[in-house]
Amino acid sequence: MNAPEIPARLQRFESLAYGLFLHWGLYSCAERGEWYWQHRKPARADYLKLFDRFDARDFDACALVRQAKAAGMRYVCLTTRHHEGFSLFDTCGLNTFDAPHSPAKRDLVREFSDACDAEGMGKFFYHTTIDWWHADFDAPGRWDDYLKYLNDSIEILATRYGRVDGFWFDGNWWRKDRDWKEDALYAVVRKHQPDAIIVNNSSTGALGRVAHPMVDIATFEQGAPKTVAAGAGRYLARERCETFNSHWGASNRDFSMKSPAEVIRILAECRRYGANLLMNVGPTPGGALPAYEAASLALVGRWIETCGQSIYDGRPAPVLCRREDFVLQGGGAYHYFAHDLEITDNVHLHHGEPGRGLRTIQGALPRIARVTWTDNGEELVFTQDVARGVLTFDATAHPYGEQRVVRVARLELVS
Ligand code: GLC
Repeated sequence: MNAPEIPARLQRFESLAYGLFLHWGLYSCAERGEWYWQHRKPARADYLKLFDRFDARDFDACALVRQAKAAGMRYVCLTTRHHEGFSLFDTCGLNTFDAPHSPAKRDLVREFSDACDAEGMGKFFYHTTIDWWHADFDAPGRWDDYLKYLNDSIEILATRYGRVDGFWFDGNWWRKDRDWKEDALYAVVRKHQPDAIIVNNSSTGALGRVAHPMVDIATFEQGAPKTVAAGAGRYLARERCETFNSHWGASNRDFSMKSPAEVIRILAECRRYGANLLMNVGPTPGGALPAYEAASLALVGRWIETCGQSIYDGRPAPVLCRREDFVLQGGGAYHYFAHDLEITDNVHLHHGEPGRGLRTIQGALPRIARVTWTDNGEELVFTQDVARGVLTFDATAHPYGEQRVVRVARLELVS
C-alpha cells in the first residue's frame, strides 16, 4: 500500500516544529492550576471574584511573541477560553464574562493576534468545548443551546482576527456521553478559515487517537508521539503538548520544573517521530512569562540555533540507530541526533555519559561526502558501505567546556 499523501497544510504545520502553549485565564490569578475550580471546589461566587482581579497589567503580546520567536518557536497557541468559561476575546454580546468587561478592559486575543501577524508567528487558538460557567452546559434540554453558543464563539474567533493557523479544541474527552455534533463545529472553522489546522485533544487517556475525519492532528498530551491509532488511509500530523511543571495554568506552589536539558530531549524525541512539540507555560496573573520558564526557553532556543535548520526541515528517515539516536532527512542532507556523549578529558566531573565512539546507521542512505557536527563544524571520520546500507562515524565527545545534551551531525550528500 502506498503511503497516504501529506496535505500541504500539514506539511506547513510540521515545519513549524516547535510552539508555545499559553494557558492564561482567571485561574491564573488563583495560582493553583487551571482545574482549581473543579478540584478545590471554591464556592462559585468566590471563584468568580477572580474576575475582579484580572487586569492583564503585564500582558505585552508583542514582547511575548518576540520571546517565543527568539527561543526558536514558530507558533503560539493561546487559550482564548478555557474550561472555566471566561473568554480572553470580546464575545460581541454573547455574554459579559470576557476580558473587555473585566478590569483588563481589553480584547487580549486581538492583541495576541496582531502581535502574531506583525512577527510572522503561527497563530493558534485553543478553545474549550466544556464549560463550567455557562448555565446551558449542564441544564437538561439545553444542550443544543450550549452548542450554538460554542459555535457562535468560534464564528467570532474565525471571522474577527484575520488568518488563524489553527483551532485547538479540548474537552470532549471529559464528557464522552454527549453528542458533540463535531461536523457543525468544524464546518464553522472550514467555512471561514479553509487552511486552518483542526485539533481536538484526545487527552492523556487516549494518546494519538483521532475520532473525527475532519481533525488533522493526533495529539499526545504529555506522552511520546509514537503510534497513531487511527486515520485509515489518510495522513495525520502529530503534536505532543507538554507542561513545564505539573499544571498548565499558573501555580506558585509547583516546584516540579523541567530543565532545559529535558525540554531539549523531549523536542528531539518529538522530531524523531515527526511530531511537533507544543511546550506550555502558564503566564503570571498579570500575563507575563515567569522568569524560570522564560530563561529556560531562551536556553533551548540557543541549542536549536546550533542544529542548523534540522529541527524544522528534518523528517524521520527510515534507518536504524542505537538507543535514542535517530536520523532526520531534509534540506538536502541527513542529520544524526547523538545522545549520551561524554565530555573530553572530563575526569573529575561527570555530566555526560559514556557514549563517545562509533555510531552506526543501518539502512539505505545515498553516498555521503562529509559528516560534521553542526555546532562547531568539526569534520568526523566515517566509513560507508552503500550496497550493504551501513555508515559508521566517529562521534567525538563534547569539547571540554561544553555539554549540548544532544549533538547533531550533518551528513552531506555527494553532489
Ligand atoms: C487537558 C486539561 C487542560 C489542558 C489541556 C492541554 O485536557 O483539561 O487543562 O488545557 O489538557 O492539553
